[in-house]
Amino acid sequence: MRIRKPLIAANWKMNVLPSEAFHLADHINSLTKDLNVDIVVAPPFTHLAFLKPLYGGNFSLGAQDVHSSPMGAHTGGVSVAMLKDLGVEYIIVGHSERRAEYESENALIRKKIDVCINAGLKVVYCCGESMELRELGKAFEFVQSQLENDLGKMEELNSLQIVIAYEPIWAIGTGLNASPQQADEMHLFIRQWLRDKFSLKAAESTRILYGGSVNATNAQELAAQINIDGALVGGASLKPDLFAEIAKAWHLKIV
Ligand code: PGA
Repeated sequence: MRIRKPLIAANWKMNVLPSEAFHLADHINSLTKDLNVDIVVAPPFTHLAFLKPLYGGNFSLGAQDVHSSPMGAHTGGVSVAMLKDLGVEYIIVGHSERRAEYESENALIRKKIDVCINAGLKVVYCCGESMELRELGKAFEFVQSQLENDLGKMEELNSLQIVIAYEPIWAIGTGLNASPQQADEMHLFIRQWLRDKFSLKAAESTRILYGGSVNATNAQELAAQINIDGALVGGASLKPDLFAEIAKAWHLKIV
């Protein structure tokens, strides 16, 4: 039996126009609102205000990033307080696309997590290895080093505020996805790390999502794995029917 409520998050990345956002998110909401899973839609910052009216039931708003300082002279920055004011509940931190595109990102992740936690927001923390590291047999070692750096110094891990997303970089937007067994193996590894570092409670109650080319076809098998508590979905989240099929796969696995 599942002890963690599944969470299916849509990461729209830098897609969709502000004027199209409400219609797309409303469509997703209408197809998923009766499912027994949590739904998070994370559009670009510019779209958030349009989606605020949808907040409620199993639908929450997410943001794709946040500034690491709570306020001040940071041209172009968007703060946790601004996001909270717009009804945002979840913030994606540490996505591999940001880690790759912005040199300072890795060093800021811990600060970003702290700023979110202190504001009472929830974090979807992303980790995952490159293909090169997987082929060298270093996937587990690398993910462990990310976890140690970014989460390891916390005094405790509150599973109500932290969701972990395992996203192997080689599977993101490539159509290649980790096999359900490969993903479940890494999720179990992350759970064991949580137990050793924090507590059995943290290990058992923290939701660990899989991300990387999740689609309506592979969702069934991923949802069948006991350690995979949902998905962080990029490409397929732009198609409400496909996204709803993915959410349904986890809904049907709740016993
Ligand atoms: P994808 O993206 O589903 O398009 O592979 C997932 C993600 O980057 O979160």
